[in-house]
Amino acid sequence: MAAVAGASVEIRDLHHRFASRAGVVTVLDGLDLDVTAGGYVALVGASGAGKSTLLSVIGGLEPAQSGSVVIGGQDLGGLSRTDLATFRRETVGFVFQHFGLLEALTAAENIELACSLARVAPAARRAKVRELLEAVDLADRARHRPVQLSGGERQRVAIARALANGPSLVLADEPTGNLDDASTARVVALLESLPAEHGCTLVLGTHDLAIAERASRRLRLRGGRAVEETAPAAVNAIAGAAPTGPPGQQARR
Ligand SMILES: Nc1ncnc2c1ncn2[C@@H]1O[C@H](COP(=O)(O)OP(=O)(O)O)[C@@H](O)[C@H]1O
Ligand SMILES: [Mg+2]
Repeated sequence: MAAVAGASVEIRDLHHRFASRAGVVTVLDGLDLDVTAGGYVALVGASGAGKSTLLSVIGGLEPAQSGSVVIGGQDLGGLSRTDLATFRRETVGFVFQHFGLLEALTAAENIELACSLARVAPAARRAKVRELLEAVDLADRARHRPVQLSGGERQRVAIARALANGPSLVLADEPTGNLDDASTARVVALLESLPAEHGCTLVLGTHDLAIAERASRRLRLRGGRAVEETAPAAVNAIAGAAPTGPPGQQARR
């Protein structure tokens, strides 16, 4: 599959608050974050620490309330709603805990829909869908609907869909939160391969430290900021998933 250049992430002084009946909740409070193009960063933090909020802002789903968010050199603050939609479609691939597949469509159709939104010609689209299904090892499940697939297979379809438009940034929010151990290992291995195989940057939010410890960098959200965590003493192996290398010797990227 054609490699694309990964997008860098540069965030400065990001603030994000939610108003609720109980008052204002400050989720992100002067957060700075830099991710090098082609890097793999895991975001960890307690439930409610702001992982999902931050991923939504990075991906242009949620506008930054203040501060700057620059993805691949593009300042999201300067984009109109239409341009933000284009940015999401052309630059970002999203992977969510609950897969987000359309239940009425087959695996192939779910992926094809993402391609068609980018105005790819039908013949090229079908070839692309086949290629993507093969990349996630699901060529034999093309005509299955989500209900006929296991959780792990659904998430692999969702990853194929995320890759439909050759994203330079993949954002995964608790991608294994609904999976058993075997499916988790497979999905994690697939996600981890994306920077090398597809040339994209990967930012993955998880509360699962065994997954996070395998990333090139681990950042903890605490008090509304991202704090670098040092490499662990040992990788907690996930059954079946190939380790990315000994911690401490990995490229800091
Ligand atoms: N749309 C919203 N309206 C109000 N509060 C929200 C909204 N989204 C998130 N929050 C609050 O913001 C905080 C951070 O949430 P979230 O980003 O989902 O954290 P995490 O993904 O780390 O669990 C939580 O306290 C959550 O309740
Ligand atoms: Mg979350």
